[in-house]
Amino acid sequence: MKLHLVAGGAGFVGVNLVRRLLARGDAVAVCDDLSRGRRELLPAETTGRLSFHKVDCSEAEALGKVVSSLDRAVDEVWHMAANSDIPAGVEDPRVDLYRTFLTTVGILEMMRRFSIGCLHFASSSAIYGDLGDLEIHENIGPLEPISYYGAMKLASEAHIRAAVEAFLSRANVFRFPNVIGVPATHGVIIDFVRKLRGMPRRLEVLGNGTQTKAYLHVDELVDAMLHIRSLAGRYCVFNIGPSDAGITVRQIAEMVRDAVSPGAEIVYGGGDRGWVGDVPRFRYSVAKLKAAGWRARLGSADALSRAIHEIVEQER
Ligand SMILES: NC(=O)c1ccc[n+]([C@@H]2O[C@H](COP(=O)([O-])OP(=O)(O)OC[C@H]3O[C@@H](n4cnc5c(N)ncnc54)[C@H](O)[C@@H]3O)[C@@H](O)[C@H]2O)c1
Repeated sequence: MKLHLVAGGAGFVGVNLVRRLLARGDAVAVCDDLSRGRRELLPAETTGRLSFHKVDCSEAEALGKVVSSLDRAVDEVWHMAANSDIPAGVEDPRVDLYRTFLTTVGILEMMRRFSIGCLHFASSSAIYGDLGDLEIHENIGPLEPISYYGAMKLASEAHIRAAVEAFLSRANVFRFPNVIGVPATHGVIIDFVRKLRGMPRRLEVLGNGTQTKAYLHVDELVDAMLHIRSLAGRYCVFNIGPSDAGITVRQIAEMVRDAVSPGAEIVYGGGDRGWVGDVPRFRYSVAKLKAAGWRARLGSADALSRAIHEIVEQER
């Protein structure tokens, strides 16, 4: 049995990861400051293999106290903590500095102090910036993120790479696409569902609806992370996503409208992006991950249908 520390483990992806690690028979210590996550989303524990610690992961000292209090040594750290409110980061760049980057610094400082060698990191397609129709494989460059969030994810990757040289024995960097499913804490589907519940006859959409992105269901994302974890290598960087080019915001708006409030009028804003730092389209290559033996079963449209159904149920 291994002990995993999951930073940001009370958030959307974290909760799904924690469930899967517990199902494998491992133990998990969740570290989350509950700024966005919720403790009640975690499974009710009866086996003694799950513990929860409310802590700011940018504080290495505080994280160290948690690690010292555990009854055995941590084997692996999963860093899922970050700011997930992208517009908040646009308003105030310190939000992403503290939540997205300094969590990485704090976690690595704690790992070095406790000689924990294995890190898995949730990075993002946002590190690539706006590359238009270029196919994005892992070693494309130069990397010019267009949001503070993307900039701080890229800075985190660089910090982790340096730590591999300094002391880590293994680091996996997962570049996530848009991830959907439950428990949804943020994102386009829950926004549309809530807007329609508040105003059932009209759905206002940010941007002109032509933004095109790839969507992966969270169950498949966790599968992919566990697959990459099983591969050999000291520093592994992978794009994770479905095989298709993605789906437009217009299609998503129509799917949610039909599920929640059929007949509602959809009103689009101007411009090809929803907010400052939004990347209107990207073509994500997942060839490296396919060559390493993993591919998504669901395309973006099927993942969306499933997630819309789940989120509508969640919001009842
Ligand atoms: N969901 C997506 O579509 C997506 C896409 C790309 C990358 N990611 C990355 O995946 C990871 C998980 O995202 P998510 O969708 O589950 O978001 P989320 O907001 O649901 O989860 C993030 C968790 O981190 C916690 N957190 C934030 N700052 C913290 C701090 N200083 N100390 C401790 N905990 C802190 C929050 O309380 C929350 O529980 C994040 O790193 C995110 O950047 C997510």
